[in-house]
Amino acid sequence: MTDSHWPSWLPLRPSLAPLSPYGAPQIAADAALNTNENPYSLSAALTGAIATKISMVASTLNRYPDRDALSLRSALAAYINEQSSTQFTAAQIWAANGSNEIIQSLFLACGGQGAIGFIPSYSMHPLIAKVTSTNWIDGKRENDFSLDVESVLNQIKKNPQGLTFLTTPNNPTGEAIKLGDIERIAQHVTGLLVVDEAYAEFSDEESAVTLIAQYPHVVVIRTMSKAFAFAGARVGYLVAHPSVIEAMLLVRLPYHLSTLTQSAALVALDFKDELLSGVRELKAARERVAASLQEMGLSVLPSQANFLLFTGFAHTSNELWKLMLDRGILIRDMGLSGYLRTTIGTTDENNKFLSALQECLVKERS
Ligand SMILES: Cc1ncc(COP(=O)(O)O)c(C=O)c1O
Repeated sequence: MTDSHWPSWLPLRPSLAPLSPYGAPQIAADAALNTNENPYSLSAALTGAIATKISMVASTLNRYPDRDALSLRSALAAYINEQSSTQFTAAQIWAANGSNEIIQSLFLACGGQGAIGFIPSYSMHPLIAKVTSTNWIDGKRENDFSLDVESVLNQIKKNPQGLTFLTTPNNPTGEAIKLGDIERIAQHVTGLLVVDEAYAEFSDEESAVTLIAQYPHVVVIRTMSKAFAFAGARVGYLVAHPSVIEAMLLVRLPYHLSTLTQSAALVALDFKDELLSGVRELKAARERVAASLQEMGLSVLPSQANFLLFTGFAHTSNELWKLMLDRGILIRDMGLSGYLRTTIGTTDENNKFLSALQECLVKERS
């Protein structure tokens, strides 16, 4: 895309002119499997509890929210401690409007020495880097998209003092990085090692939060968008050394997290057992869908997340994406030639996805 459509009177920063906004299609479909959302809507009990809490705080909306979101940060610390046998307090947690805002705050506060991430990975890392004038380096993966630790160590040699991004499980490939490998990388990074664990609850690997006590420059990004089925509420958080959290306070906008968001998130955390049982179902469904794709003669990358990246079809990615959409199934073309990504949905959505795909493959093979 050229930048010529910008009017000359607009004093847009030159570095932004060539960029395109994030744009995963939001199209009505029988099965929307393109943004790695949790397919389960909130239970009646959880919806009711949120409604009660919101109506309790509604009369206080004339006041600004708790600027430091202390109750929410304490509840998030308790959740992480329960999951990972750690001992964090609110001083080691920051919360924001989705983990995208956490990523932005990290760049704003600590991006001065540049950043590297290993692509393909979450497309917003480089985009938010550019928007915050952070010099971004596209690091390389192996041909099969796996991450080779030796290669990572070689690549970070160029700028060990910047931000090094690891995404585990990685989006869009699904691969999880072993904790021992993250630790080795931590030993070579002298800047911040940013571990994006948006899909951590879907993975059997231990979380990198367990490294923070020994390696204070390891920071871990988490979100309620996926496992907690809370994408619409916009709650992401950071687990990090208290000094990193203090740096987040410098760049956050005052009162950034609304009273409504904080209240709803606190209620959702109370329902963690119910929500995590949904995660277990999705993990089992992921294995079933992966097996079905293999039975169709496709190759599926090993995934520890709530999505699968698959290849082995004859159409181009874009052609097959369109054929699937014609059948009411919205999946994701990540711009990786020969690959498409699908999110794990409800049983009904997964079945619709598989039978539409089967139909397309039969046509392309006949
Ligand atoms: C790896 C990764 N990190 C962060 C995010 C952002 O999530 P949110 O801003 O909803 O917390 C996503 C969303 O898909 C993601 O895949």
